[in-house]
Amino acid sequence: VTSAFETDVLVIGSGPAGSGAALSLATLGVDHMVITKYRWTANTPRSHITNQRTVEIFRDLGIEDDVLAQGTEHERMGETVFCTSLAGDEIGRVRTWETAPDRASDYAAASPSPNCDIPQTLLEPILVGHAASRGSRIRFDTEYVGLEQDADGVTVSVRDRTTGHEYTIRAKYVLGADGGRSQVAEDIGLPFEGEMDVAGSMNIVFHSDLSHLVAHRPSVLYWVLQPGADVGGIGLGLVRMVRPWNEWLTVWGYDINEPPPVVDDAEAIKIVHQLVGDDTIPVTIRSTSLWGNNKRYATRYRSGRVFCLGDACHRHPPSNGLGSNTSIQDAYNLAWKLAYVLRGTAGEGLLDSFDAERAPIGKQIVLRANKSIEEFGPIFDALGLLGESDPEVMTRHIAARADNTPEAAEQRAKLRTALELKNYEFNAHGVELNHRYASNAVVPDGTPEPGFTRDPELHYHPTTWPGARLPHVWLGGPGGRRVSTHDLAGKGRFALLTGISGSAWADAAAEVAEKLGVDLVPYVIGPGRDHIDLYDDWARAREVGEDGCVLVRPDTHVAWRSPGPVDDPTTELTRVLTEILAH
Ligand code: FDA
Repeated sequence: VTSAFETDVLVIGSGPAGSGAALSLATLGVDHMVITKYRWTANTPRSHITNQRTVEIFRDLGIEDDVLAQGTEHERMGETVFCTSLAGDEIGRVRTWETAPDRASDYAAASPSPNCDIPQTLLEPILVGHAASRGSRIRFDTEYVGLEQDADGVTVSVRDRTTGHEYTIRAKYVLGADGGRSQVAEDIGLPFEGEMDVAGSMNIVFHSDLSHLVAHRPSVLYWVLQPGADVGGIGLGLVRMVRPWNEWLTVWGYDINEPPPVVDDAEAIKIVHQLVGDDTIPVTIRSTSLWGNNKRYATRYRSGRVFCLGDACHRHPPSNGLGSNTSIQDAYNLAWKLAYVLRGTAGEGLLDSFDAERAPIGKQIVLRANKSIEEFGPIFDALGLLGESDPEVMTRHIAARADNTPEAAEQRAKLRTALELKNYEFNAHGVELNHRYASNAVVPDGTPEPGFTRDPELHYHPTTWPGARLPHVWLGGPGGRRVSTHDLAGKGRFALLTGISGSAWADAAAEVAEKLGVDLVPYVIGPGRDHIDLYDDWARAREVGEDGCVLVRPDTHVAWRSPGPVDDPTTELTRVLTEILAH
């Protein structure tokens, strides 16, 4: 086959999954190319909550500061309001994204990186820009048409949308990051479970200075309970901050079994005014779009040399803010494995671990996001709105909670419980961080999986159990500066963490790195060494003896650990790494 272009990896799509893959591959020095359908990146804000795990990945990729500089900070994300309109009756608040005083310490302890709120319109250009500056070849206006695989590679047909010209690109591996209507996933026949288009939603992006209604209760989400708010959509009407406090996005539902509504500017302004609760406020509509809520996930992400990632594999509503986070995490999981295989440091078998590790998380987030929509039901129930469609009756029932009657007291108690349930959507720290991989790229240490002492969806449970994300603690680094355990790991390298009495592990690691040609950096943590356990936090977190070790993969997940010394650490580490790298 002769193709106009040859590359090691062809990435299709430049959304969070595609641009995340491009940046990861470029940082690892992998030859690759990106094709993407439109002339530029996302044209509407879309996903925005960027959780600690993702910002940690950005930290490893060297773009954390850029993302935090452009995003809205953690401190301004948390006063999530439930109301009849922004100007109307406030029904209650939930402190969200781990900003509540009782959650703040969990959050600060879990990661070196804060979460933030950054719309896709700002995030994607950061990812794409850094990827291009590090070597990505990115071709906009270029559409995927089809592919053919053989034993050595994939020939991909593409169309230049500016000229209509079709040509082929030859790649060793292809990443289908082409979103929720993925043609690549369809062409390689990925098996799916669940349904598409279970409910209808409408996004309206607008500019309007709403400071006077929101700045005193800063949040990224203002939920509006109005007649019709339970039809389609994402559970309630939503006014979402894009940029404080003059750029916004409303989400309103519609009945997907009826013909799609026509949303012209006049209709859009009417909906915005209705949710804001003031029809005198000047509003400029930027865009409107209709989209379907999905509940569908792939059970396999790969066919031969073609991998899918992001929304191509998991399709779900925005609840819990997991869309772009999971997509970027998929990319980060796959990139180092491709780099190792292409360099010849690992056998092809390493790639089998990609969907073994990511498909269970894709399924989990699809189900979680959909359940979060159902969990608005108790709020309707508490306010006596279930099955009620008469606006006047609804307004009366909402107002009745202020009465001095036993019924109203019961209503208030029910409302409190109903709002608490929303922690599973807005404070699901465990869903965000408790990823524990089981695959051929993790070597068990023979211990059973540690149980959860607190609700595993709400709370993160740090552990060095093989497969889990490396626990973060602050260490003293060179010059007394604080560095995270996560700063020792990552950067495309394996890391081995041990203590002074485990120095034999460090010597063995250096020897094995040389012998296998693997980038493996040993760290001895202790007084007089480059890294000091300043607060003894590592001693508490490591779950192995000072003379044991924790081996960490390039994606900061634990590969394997040893509780103490062994007779021949070189042979032991060789065994473990050979298994992980599928030699
Ligand atoms: P994504 O869809 O972002 O990117 C796909 C890429 O593939 C695009 O660059 C596209 O141009 C390209 N492409 C598609 N077909 C192609 C072809 N044939 N050839 C070449 N390129 C092709 N999530 C969330 O968490 N919170 C939210 O508020 C929202 N809101 C929201 C609103 C709207 C309108 C949408 C459409 C989606 C959301 N989402 C969301 C979902 C979130 O945007 C989504 O989870 C991520 O963008 C997924 O990232 P991907 O990169 O996988 O797909």
